[in-house]
Order: sequence, then C-alpha cells, then structure tokens
Amino acid sequence: MSIGADVKRITVHDIRQRKGGAPLAVLTAYTATMARLLDPLVDIILVGDSLGMVIYGMETTLGVTVEMMINHGAAVVRASRRACIIIDMPFGSYQESPQTAFRTAAQVMATTGCAGVKLEGGDEMAETISFLVQRGIPVMGHVGLLPQSVHALGGFRTQGRDEASAATIVADAIAVAEAGVFSLVVEGVMEPLGRRITERVPVPTIGIGASPACDGQVLVTEDMLGLFDAFQPRFVKRFANLGIEAKQAFTAYVNEVRARTFPGPEHCFWMKKDS
Ligand code: KIV
Repeated sequence: MSIGADVKRITVHDIRQRKGGAPLAVLTAYTATMARLLDPLVDIILVGDSLGMVIYGMETTLGVTVEMMINHGAAVVRASRRACIIIDMPFGSYQESPQTAFRTAAQVMATTGCAGVKLEGGDEMAETISFLVQRGIPVMGHVGLLPQSVHALGGFRTQGRDEASAATIVADAIAVAEAGVFSLVVEGVMEPLGRRITERVPVPTIGIGASPACDGQVLVTEDMLGLFDAFQPRFVKRFANLGIEAKQAFTAYVNEVRARTFPGPEHCFWMKKDS
C-alpha cells in the first residue's frame, strides 16, 4: 500500500521474500510516539500483547482484550507510514474455533488498517491459520515459549530442553508454516533449535531468545531501552538506559518546581508593555 508520495509501506509479501536475506529488524510499539520513532528504521512494528505487562502492569498477557489491541494498534498504524504493522491476537480471541479467530482478525484488520495478525501456537492452531490465510488474513506464527500458555507451561521457561520437546517444537513450526504463515516468531528456545527451525521452514523466522541464525530478531522496545525493569530475561540486551535518564529528569523537575526555578521567565507568556 502506497502511503505518501515517496514512501511505500513494507508488505507481508516483502517480509516473506526476506527468507535467508538481510535480517529482519523487528521491535514492538503500543503508542503513536514510539511508532513514530521506530517507523523509519525497522521492518516490522509488532503491536504485541506484551502491552498488558508493559503498559497495563499485568503479571501475564492473559488479561489483554481485543479492544486494547485495537486501540493501541490503531494508534501505531496512524503514526507510521513505512513499517509493516502486525497486531497480536489476545488470549481467548482465536483459540475456540477458526470462525471465532476469523471474526476477531477481521475486526482487528478492518478497524486498525494493520497488515496482518500474530497468533500463538503450533500444530493445534494449523487449521485456524489455514482458515484465516485462505480468507485473506496474513498471519505471523509464534512457536516455542508461548506467553499466553504461561500457566500450562509452568512459567516463562525456555522450551525445547530435551530431544522430544525440541522435536515437537520443530513439528509445530513446520505445521504452521505449511498452514500458510508469512513469518514465524520463535521465542525462548534452547540452541540449536532456532537454527534447526530456520533451516526447516520456508518463511522467515524472527527470534526472541532463540538464535542468531534466525532470519530476523524482535525485542520488546521498553526492554531494550531499559524502561521496563519488572524483570529482565537473559535474552534482552539493553541498548540504552532510558529508565535511569527518565528518573534523573523527573528528579530535576521536582527539585526545580519546589525551588520555584521552573518555570523561568522564558517559559511564561508576557503581556506587551504599553509604550
Ligand atoms: O507480545 C509481544 O510483544 C510478542 C513479542 C515479544 C514476540 O509476542
């Protein structure tokens, strides 16, 4: 879709073509401000349901609603013109049946203008993925550590620790690839599983806590900026420490307000003196 005169939006077709090519750089955004900063730089902006934890202070992503995803997703689409925008389908909005999944995905796509949706799951979601893809909904898959299944998994634990579970995750990746996903997030798996999956599926893999061999990488933006410190998984690299800088700025502001040095004369609106 062409947005401005000179800017062409990256499509899911472009993303699929990147298999084995230049690595895909993917980050999350939930707000217009963050989307504006990321848009010129990344290939995909993912409006992840991690927003439940990062923005809403939830302990898991399970309480995230379709309405939340639509509101944040629409803000990100409005504030971007170049990146491919993918929105997460939240827990409970797609697992029941392919028909339920279609209704949710169609609502998300129609009301936000995003390019596609992401849903979690392996072989058990293949029928639903194929149902959506055949009806015009581009789907990004998500295998390995599935945050929406945190209770069933017994916590946010790295997956594929033994040969049997590694083989299941590879089979899941192949199943969703065959069902028609245009790309596949591989989260929280032991090496060399990320590499094995990347070699076995014909669509780009996007790793998070997976492998440098993946066709791309994704991080939660607030994690890599050092803004979210509820916990820090091993796979997160902090590329900045904005949390510390923000606290310094807040302290300076509070001190200046209390000392009456802010606002200064330059921040005030002065009436013109009569001549
Ligand atoms: O919800 C999210 O932000 C995600 C990414 C971390 C892959 O699913």
